[in-house]
Amino acid sequence: MKVRILGSAAGGGVPQWNCLCPNCAAARAGTGEVQPRTQSSVAVSADGVSWFLLNVSPDIRQQIMAFPALAPQGAAPRATPISGCILTDAEIDHASGLLFLRESCPVSIPIHSTALVRRWLSEEFPLLPVVSSFSNRPWIEIRLDEARSLALPTGEPSGLRLRAFCVEPHVPKFVKNAAGPSATIGATIGLEIIDERAGGKLLYAPCAAGPSPELDRASQGAHAVLLDGTFWSDDEPRRMGFSERSARQMGHWPVSGDGGSLQWFAAIRAERRIYVHINNTNPMLGERSPERAEIARAGARVGRDGDEFEA
Ligand code: MLT
Ligand code: MN
Ligand code: ZN
Repeated sequence: MKVRILGSAAGGGVPQWNCLCPNCAAARAGTGEVQPRTQSSVAVSADGVSWFLLNVSPDIRQQIMAFPALAPQGAAPRATPISGCILTDAEIDHASGLLFLRESCPVSIPIHSTALVRRWLSEEFPLLPVVSSFSNRPWIEIRLDEARSLALPTGEPSGLRLRAFCVEPHVPKFVKNAAGPSATIGATIGLEIIDERAGGKLLYAPCAAGPSPELDRASQGAHAVLLDGTFWSDDEPRRMGFSERSARQMGHWPVSGDGGSLQWFAAIRAERRIYVHINNTNPMLGERSPERAEIARAGARVGRDGDEFEA
């Protein structure tokens, strides 16, 4: 399967409009020391023709412009190679791009999410009803731990199979009524995507609060893993002065240190181990930083917009 990282940054992107952290300042200055990055989204395809978006960031328009495979083709007045949008959560950086794909097309583009994400995007942040008033966007439920072939809008098989698994839930700030653990099942998921013909396997977990048996299981046999690279250290949000919560409390597994995700990354077998959803404060964004060198030594990579590979 073909995989393209459309956007490798967490919410806010790099540089973030209102941020003066060293990375945002360097990206703004254009020295090349820190590459600008758009917000978190990936595209996957079995045949290089029909693509599924894994999360739809508010930068989706720019991401489509930067990737000719997502441009409309054919003789009809309107068309798109986008065959579905698959959401891992209801966060603004992962879902609000649906607003910018509201224009109608002869074929309807399904939106795949868990029932809980659908409810939050219908009631708490009513993006789905808003988008549906512009065009037909049928919803397809993602049920946890049920592998399902992904169909194209025409009903034909896409060649890809999806299985979603639970990661520790991460409740968006705009959700006011999520009480108790049972109220958050399906809030945040990881995705296993398998190429049904060629057998390639991708694991995508842009938000994961820590290691888990589900993540271990999903990593088995994976050719590529795209993992939460939001924060370098647990106290980074507090130290950088933008939140009183720790990385883990925000639902993000810090990269460094004992029990950090880099240790897990170094221990798994996947040929490609790439961080995505990277917050602008993360020092591993520095092209010549010691943190970047540490990532490389562990056999991992810091994802960049436009990275493409086969899984
Ligand atoms: C997150 O990943 O923690 C959220 O997307 C935060 C946000 O940008 O609102
Ligand atoms: Mn996010
Ligand atoms: Zn910043």
